[in-house]
Amino acid sequence: MIPFNVPHLVGSEIDNISAALKSRQLSGDRAYSKGCETQLSKWLSDQPSLVVPSGTAALELACIVADFQPGDEVIMPSYTFSSTANAVVLRGGVPVFVDILPGTLNVDPSMVERAVTPKTRGILPVHYAGLVCDMSEICEIAHKNKLVVIEDAAQALGSFYNGQPAGTLGDMAAFSFHETKNIVAGEAGAFTTKHDDWHARAQIIREKGTNRAEFIAGQVDKYSWVDVGSSFLAAEIVCAFLNAQFSHLDTITKRRVEILDHYRAGLKDFESRGWLALQTVPQHCQINGHIACCVLDDRFDREAVMRDLLEKGVQTTSHYVPLHSSTAGRKFGRAGSSMIHTDRAGSQLLRLPIYADLTDVEVDTVLHALDEVLNEHAR
Ligand SMILES: Cc1ncc(COP(=O)(O)O)c(C=O)c1O
Repeated sequence: MIPFNVPHLVGSEIDNISAALKSRQLSGDRAYSKGCETQLSKWLSDQPSLVVPSGTAALELACIVADFQPGDEVIMPSYTFSSTANAVVLRGGVPVFVDILPGTLNVDPSMVERAVTPKTRGILPVHYAGLVCDMSEICEIAHKNKLVVIEDAAQALGSFYNGQPAGTLGDMAAFSFHETKNIVAGEAGAFTTKHDDWHARAQIIREKGTNRAEFIAGQVDKYSWVDVGSSFLAAEIVCAFLNAQFSHLDTITKRRVEILDHYRAGLKDFESRGWLALQTVPQHCQINGHIACCVLDDRFDREAVMRDLLEKGVQTTSHYVPLHSSTAGRKFGRAGSSMIHTDRAGSQLLRLPIYADLTDVEVDTVLHALDEVLNEHAR
């Protein structure tokens, strides 16, 4: 069977974990945690970053730093993970869901603009499949309306927009190192901001609202409670694992991009038969090979296609249940636009296996199985 996802291990994780154990320094913000932040910042054109327990925690931290207040509206795509909206709801804010573009599958900036009200405080674009949203348009809308932009870059580490790294385009960004991501730590994430004062505040919030980081750096003689906060630190053992993964981010990204290119070359033929549509990647966007997806034509029953692919030994999956139609989405948020393309992606988007250890032969096996299954179902 070709599984949908296999986390890639680089080999040196266990040595790093042993070294962390030997150091007897196991809490957060220790050597490996700082090492991850140094490595990540290199990918972010030297923008500082903070390792946190998950992409979800990074989004929650960003929403605290943004100072969202009860009743504040934050515009985001409906086609995303619950964490994007939860982070806003936990501040008492209201997620306003808008549609995606049918080509890029990213939030439609014209829908974002139309959804702005006097209560809007922020925009939360999600870089779906690692493809960076139209950030020029989004940042212009934000600038005109004095809104904070938080990039949900959970899937986008190693992607670029006009040569600029994902995560450095808005005011703040969140990354994920969940086991399905390009580099993994089981569960971990990272926060980054381009504003130095917001970075300093995020450090305090991460440390239970204390200025412990300043104390460790020898800038104050004792530390105390100075702001709201939580425990958004990642444990040293997790960071030791992640540090090893970071050292291979370059080669992992290259391999995933190769696999995605291989898939896209094969799927182009299916697209020309009208069976499916590929995600369109604009010229100025460099994608990180995170997800291999396509949107099946309406004549296909996606679940039946997935079932038949599994019978042929290929595990595939769908993705998000659109948030505007979910139980919590209806309770805590509202739809700010029509949702034609979101609803189509919700019912027709198919994700194929992709991971650094997938071989070219296996990619061909997946393409062959998909050809057979779609051929059968197209009749
Ligand atoms: C778009 C998006 N945002 C946020 C998250 C949350 O990341 P984590 O699982 O690290 O909490 C995910 C996770 O898959 C995601 O896909």
